[in-house]
Amino acid sequence: MINAKLLQLVINASNDGIVVAEQEGDDNILIYANPAFERLTGYGVEDILYQDCRFLQAGDRAQVGLAAIREALRNRQPCRQVLRNYRKDGSFFWNELSITPAFNEADQLTYFIGIQKDVSAHMDALERVRELEAEVARLKEALAAKG
Ligand SMILES: Cc1cc2nc3c(=O)[nH]c(=O)nc-3n(C[C@H](O)[C@H](O)[C@H](O)COP(=O)(O)O)c2cc1C
Repeated sequence: MINAKLLQLVINASNDGIVVAEQEGDDNILIYANPAFERLTGYGVEDILYQDCRFLQAGDRAQVGLAAIREALRNRQPCRQVLRNYRKDGSFFWNELSITPAFNEADQLTYFIGIQKDVSAHMDALERVRELEAEVARLKEALAAKG
């Protein structure tokens, strides 16, 4: 079994954000964030400890993925959603967020592990494919109309 020190080493080395939150009322407050989370979001751990991660959405709250996240958290189920998030400097990124509950039988608490992956390049490519598909459809229609 891997020891706690080695586990910390690998979590610190991860290229994706890894956070741990604990439930407090309606919030899930951060009790840990790894260096990749700090690099991705521009926030230092000290800035964001004991806050709910929703600050990353800035004012952009009308997102379909949020209802699915709320539902999963309520039911203590894992979930994965792509969200619009904003760094400390205000710059935008697409965040593929995976949340998993972890039960601690000793203290009877539920913790949530969050893994954040910047999927902006992938989402931009998807958008471009959609634009090109629409363009092809328009050209096909134009060709058909010509007979
Ligand atoms: C462990 C964990 C990590 C989270 N990470 C993020 C995140 O990186 N970005 C984000 O926008 N929301 C994140 N959330 C989701 C928000 O904290 C919150 O649950 C979500 O906005 C839905 O609840 P609300 O409508 O009350 O804000 C995370 C939640 C948990 C439990």
